[in-house]
Amino acid sequence: MSPFLLTRTLPEDATEAALRADVLHGLTRTPKELPPKWFYDARGSELFEEITRLPEYYPTRAEREILLARAPEIAAATAARTLVELGSGSSEKTRHLLDALPDLDSYVPVDVSESALTGAAKTLLAERPGLNVHALIADFTRGLALPGTPGPRLVAFLGGTIGNLLPAERTVFLRSVRSLLDPGDCLLLGTDLVKDESVLVRAYDDAAGVTAEFNKNVLAVVARELRADVDPDDFDHVALWNREQEWIEMRLRARSALTVKIRELDLAVSFAAGEEMRTEVSAKFRQEGVRAELAEAGMDLTHWWTDEEGRFALSLSTAS
Ligand code: AVJ
Repeated sequence: MSPFLLTRTLPEDATEAALRADVLHGLTRTPKELPPKWFYDARGSELFEEITRLPEYYPTRAEREILLARAPEIAAATAARTLVELGSGSSEKTRHLLDALPDLDSYVPVDVSESALTGAAKTLLAERPGLNVHALIADFTRGLALPGTPGPRLVAFLGGTIGNLLPAERTVFLRSVRSLLDPGDCLLLGTDLVKDESVLVRAYDDAAGVTAEFNKNVLAVVARELRADVDPDDFDHVALWNREQEWIEMRLRARSALTVKIRELDLAVSFAAGEEMRTEVSAKFRQEGVRAELAEAGMDLTHWWTDEEGRFALSLSTAS
């Protein structure tokens, strides 16, 4: 087997078609909304990296603390020979895990970004020349097929990104993850936890305004890709805690009444002054909820680790 394989399961034009469909659907419904996956063009990915270094944005540091402390236990509990990472990005946090898994045969990073995948694979292969890296360009929310690498398998979904899915979407997603696993294979899941509202809101509305810029970047993506005449500065960044749903919502609020023409869709969208459009849900979890959702999908939660301050959790579960 060659040490690096890249498989594309997303057609080259799938991204464009999906963006068009999401914008058409999201901006013609009430209330308006855009899915968070469209934040992440090159600029958006850069802004997210910047967010992870902000003093207010604790999840990345908290998760890294847990991974560093628990990697040997994760390795012992899973005996993984294949590590699959969903939304691998730069594979930066995975390094701790890879270092703790000396018997690992294969690493399967899955991401929609081809450049992130090849960049990460290059760095990794320089450090672990024996490792088989089989990168998949894929949208993991749409069903995946994994290469036939040796088991046991460990699927990692880190960063708290599962919180971007709505409850019904999480059910579908966890079932599709379960379908990739044989009994005894494991899922390592990162979840941000319910905590003090002010801490949560500050993490999504930082003093330096980086998250505001990240939020508005979705408008820049729509402007460029769909030839829309929208000015991101016609909108204000809003971050609020939804107490009933236990999730953070990011919204963009129109500063005045305005109409956006989207040439690629032959569509004009009007906003009332102060109208808000939801751009992200970032759900926060409790152990019992995570356990129940995993059980519902056919997985048994066996380990629950948090950082010292109890802000973020990594859970390990086994396919039953
Ligand atoms: C990358 C989805 C985990 O929800 O905290 C950061 C994205 N949004 N600041 C999160 C994000 C605003 C982030 N995830």
